[in-house]
Amino acid sequence: MNMMDKTMVTKTVKIAANNVNVHYADSHAIKDVSVGIEANAVTAFIGPSGCGKSTFLRCLNRMNDTIDVCRVTGEILLDEEDIYDRRVDPVQLRAKVGMVFQKPNPFPKSIYDNVAYGPRIHGLARNKAELDEIVENSLRRGAIWEEVKDRLDAPGTGLSGGQQQRLCIARAIATEPEVLLMDEPCSALDPIATAQVEELIDELRGNFTVVIVTHSMQQAARVSQKTAFFHLGNLVEYEATGQIFTNPQDPRTESYITGRIG
Ligand SMILES: Nc1ncnc2c1ncn2[C@@H]1O[C@H](COP(=O)(O)OP(=O)(O)OP(=O)(O)O)[C@@H](O)[C@H]1O
Ligand SMILES: [Mg+2]
Repeated sequence: MNMMDKTMVTKTVKIAANNVNVHYADSHAIKDVSVGIEANAVTAFIGPSGCGKSTFLRCLNRMNDTIDVCRVTGEILLDEEDIYDRRVDPVQLRAKVGMVFQKPNPFPKSIYDNVAYGPRIHGLARNKAELDEIVENSLRRGAIWEEVKDRLDAPGTGLSGGQQQRLCIARAIATEPEVLLMDEPCSALDPIATAQVEELIDELRGNFTVVIVTHSMQQAARVSQKTAFFHLGNLVEYEATGQIFTNPQDPRTESYITGRIG
């Protein structure tokens, strides 16, 4: 590696995964994956269906803890601290490492209460005025404030799919997470709502570290700076997004991006 390369790779690593393996009972879903997720960047996870993208994403905020048959080994560090340490409270961890799912899943509550829920349980506001401010700011950062500001008491489930997803993003950022995990956040959205969410993701990277699972290579190319290609539970290639799409080093990556597998 020459000096130039060295200066180019000194980015802050927000999450470091070291030799992570995941089993569902006897099935080996993630095979010895090590990766450093950069701070304040968008990282895309791509790969064929069943290759382990969601499984690995769920390791990053211990969502797999909720699946009985799932066993995670190896080490995952958030800011150099082991998130699987016994002293770590998974609920607190998930406030720091928020998640947005494939299907918009607002709570059966008002728009206001959807966003206020996290800040309330984590005691982030001292009074109603502060809570109002958190809700408004989160909805603004979720790029949905203008559409809902006159109906904050209406149910979140009454919004359109794209609005619901932006509400869920606002809900996820209301607890001031440091990392936002998104598992195919646009797959239930039309092209206009998708463009809005993609624009939002680009803005979010100023304040958050974002990891997005996507089936759309166009989307990965549009929104991410780094891309990780998974295949049969292996992390095959992890590089700058431009590099993955124009000059992949592994034949499996090349086959996938040119449409021969997947
Ligand atoms: N709850 C579970 N119990 C048992 N096996 C599971 C479970 N979730 C996932 N798996 C298995 O683990 C492997 C990886 O699945 P995963 O959902 O992580 O893939 P993926 O890359 O996200 O796929 P897709 O693109 O279809 O969402 C698959 O073989 C899948 O069947
Ligand atoms: Mg998945």
